[in-house]
Amino acid sequence: MPLDPFAAAQLGPLTLRNRFLKAATFEGMSYQGKVTDQLVDFHRATAAGGVGMTTVAYCAVSPGGRGAPHELVPRPELVPDLRRLVEAVHAEGAAINAQIGHAGPIGNARVTGSKALAASSGFSPLGTRYHAMTVTDIERTISDFANAASLLAEAGFDAVEIHMGHHYLINAFMSPRFNRRTDDWGGDIERRARFPREIAKAVRAAVGREVAVLAKFEMEDGVPRGLIVADSLPIAKLLDADGALDALELTGGGSLANPMYLFRGDVPRKEFAATLPAALRPAFRLVGKRFMPEYPFEEAYFLSEARQFRAALSMPLVLLGGITRIETVQQALDEGFEFVAMGRALLREPDLVNRMREGSAKESICIHCNKCMPTIYRGTHCVLVEPGERPGMRLGPVT
Ligand SMILES: Cc1cc2nc3c(=O)[nH]c(=O)nc-3n(C[C@H](O)[C@H](O)[C@H](O)COP(=O)(O)O)c2cc1C
Repeated sequence: MPLDPFAAAQLGPLTLRNRFLKAATFEGMSYQGKVTDQLVDFHRATAAGGVGMTTVAYCAVSPGGRGAPHELVPRPELVPDLRRLVEAVHAEGAAINAQIGHAGPIGNARVTGSKALAASSGFSPLGTRYHAMTVTDIERTISDFANAASLLAEAGFDAVEIHMGHHYLINAFMSPRFNRRTDDWGGDIERRARFPREIAKAVRAAVGREVAVLAKFEMEDGVPRGLIVADSLPIAKLLDADGALDALELTGGGSLANPMYLFRGDVPRKEFAATLPAALRPAFRLVGKRFMPEYPFEEAYFLSEARQFRAALSMPLVLLGGITRIETVQQALDEGFEFVAMGRALLREPDLVNRMREGSAKESICIHCNKCMPTIYRGTHCVLVEPGERPGMRLGPVT
């Protein structure tokens, strides 16, 4: 019997109303790290549009884990506001997930005020520096993940999603390119798997079995000598065997180098440069073309890598990356993926899932111009949506 994308589905302990997840798209609506009305409106609109579960995008597990200054860091005094966000989404019939992570090599001391920490030291293509973590840093970071997850569970979140992708810290530990450690946290695959495994176990222990725990998981990091499926799949098998996670959402590429590998489609180089801190713009002018090569958009562009994961793993999987048509959603479910996640298509049309269910839309009208990407620091939106219609932006630009 083919799975019905619009029927209720089990994700770990949760029953979702359907198999559509909103992928994390950093909202740029947590000014000074707070839950704003705009952020609540953004997720209320996404929930009202029909998804089974929305995802509050990147929340840093510690101030030093931020990749940008206004990112939300879960802390006890935020719990009442986070609860307000949860209640708004629940009132629209959807579940709510929060992505938690540590920026690792993406971090920038000039932006966050803390030195960027990673598996090993190095320089980003734009010249920012990151430093190798000590074992104490590693242990503290594992408990930071557990503490952040526990606060989100206390606020009523249905799920937490551990960010293991996009060149952020956990990805850096998994990748042979970014992890050159020779201690118990680097080297062979088992050692490079240790950090994600310990974090997954610590997060599960912190939230118990009533909250779903997902990971956004890097299949290939799209950089020379980086993570490839031959490396990432054995790591995923170890996570599968550990049993701490309810699902993996499969991704690739990242923000440190070669960002378009993650998105595909047009390259908004000029707009992207304008979002960089002034200090990084000259470097970007020099290496911009090399830093951001173009990858043409294809429907379900991670499907061939993801199929290898589906064949080898028993845990539920979420297919992500360029899913824009209902027939692709059905194909993904027919091939054994339990859920699909959509990012840009839902920025373009937050009610796409409802319209697909009613039969009035068969595909997204997103054109993959990627001009939403450089809006992430001023209230994320699709530039083709009229200002008055942008979720979370009804009160005007986010300050
Ligand atoms: C504006 C924007 C912001 C994003 N922010 C995040 C983020 O905070 N965390 C994350 O894991 N991915 C982020 N992504 C990546 C998406 O979650 C997703 O992996 C990517 O857009 C591919 O899916 P899509 O083709 O459905 O858009 C972002 C994407 C966009 C377009």
